[in-house]
Amino acid sequence: MSKKMEGSLLLRNGRLLDPESGRDGRFDILVEEGRICRVAPRLEGPADRVIDLSGLWIMPGAIDLHVHLREPGFEYKETILTGARAAAAGGFTSIACMANTSPVNDNAAVTRFILEQAAAAPVKVLPIAAISREMRGETLVEMGDLVAAGAAAFSDDGRTVPNSKLLRHAMEYAALFDRRLFCHCQDNALFADGVVHEGLLAAAHGLAGIPSLAEEIDIARTIMLAEYLGLPVHICHLSTRGGVELVRAAKERGVAVTAEVTPHHLFLDERAVADLDYAGEIVEGFRPEPRRYNTNTKMSPPLRSAEDVEAVRQGLAAGVIDAVATDHAPHEATEKAVEYDLAPFGVVGLETALGLVLRLVAEGLLSPLRMAGVLSLEPARILGLADRGRVVEGAAADFTVIDPEREWVVDPESFRSRSRNTPFAGWRLPGRAVKTIVDGRVVFE
Ligand code: DOR
Ligand code: ZN
Repeated sequence: MSKKMEGSLLLRNGRLLDPESGRDGRFDILVEEGRICRVAPRLEGPADRVIDLSGLWIMPGAIDLHVHLREPGFEYKETILTGARAAAAGGFTSIACMANTSPVNDNAAVTRFILEQAAAAPVKVLPIAAISREMRGETLVEMGDLVAAGAAAFSDDGRTVPNSKLLRHAMEYAALFDRRLFCHCQDNALFADGVVHEGLLAAAHGLAGIPSLAEEIDIARTIMLAEYLGLPVHICHLSTRGGVELVRAAKERGVAVTAEVTPHHLFLDERAVADLDYAGEIVEGFRPEPRRYNTNTKMSPPLRSAEDVEAVRQGLAAGVIDAVATDHAPHEATEKAVEYDLAPFGVVGLETALGLVLRLVAEGLLSPLRMAGVLSLEPARILGLADRGRVVEGAAADFTVIDPEREWVVDPESFRSRSRNTPFAGWRLPGRAVKTIVDGRVVFE
């Protein structure tokens, strides 16, 4: 991030979507020295730069709670810089990156390394440190050290923490440092060697199944621990109807649980694995060759049933699920060009997420304000970022500017990401980010 002081910036005539205040209307925003200085229906200059946003939406910068940046260790898939550029192009102003790098981000030196690399990145990078050393689930990391180095949260994402006593201690220590655990909930024994959802598709194609129960049983355990301790916890990538019900019931009891859902679990069900029936509209020429399977539909948790997709959609609309997070998981093309069983889990998401969420708005599932909430305010709250996710005087001048009418077709070849493993190639999406502003600086347009 350039530390150069920015001049004043006047953002005019945009439709402001500020979920915290509930403002949805035409406002001007004056930015000075990277901070929001004034917000009013009409502001006159002078300003060093004036940008007219007529016909566009402006919301607090989108924050992705869950990305895999692959550096250190797997730079051929993604680096901090390529991932951050993909984020900026996708309209994200902050991204929280998971710890399953090599070495694992389980000590302050790795956290510091990530932040040093991120100094040149166009968006904010918030390192999430591991819960256990080498993510083995055996020994707690030095949380105090990691927080001092800049850890924004703790997660062994990619794996669960099977030892409930360790998970308990992790929740307790993290709370001392005002940090939250981001839990990848999956019962290892039930997950076993599964590669797709345990259901019709698995049976028809002879693929090993991952039952919904694998997720639900571990969400129940995680919620019970949080409830017993009276501490907050965040559940990653909810994918099942039962998971939504567990979170709904826990919230009703007053448990401080939050949850995220990915765009792929909102739009695709198990049938996409075999290219059977895309929910999306395939544009002529982009339809993949007819084939039995598409490894860009393999991720953990897997694409579930159509009923599960409906449940996570309703959960998001109702506020049971707080946020949309991508689980951006880049893999190199040759790694995915193998039998379904052998392909790594994960799909990219930074450059398609906003367009897909805009589709939920177009479908009437989310209001524009709720869209801004699930992409900015709620993620900021989950990360405890008091000066982001909101449009108030003094807050960071991070904005996502959207053209809601700029229809486009997903072409993986155009991605800034180093990897192209998307299940959404050829999808027609209704709108996109046309400007991404971080600390008052336009980092993408
Ligand atoms: O699909 C996934 N890919 N799920 C995870 O939990 C990990 C991720 C990765 O690192 O590739
Ligand atoms: Zn995960």
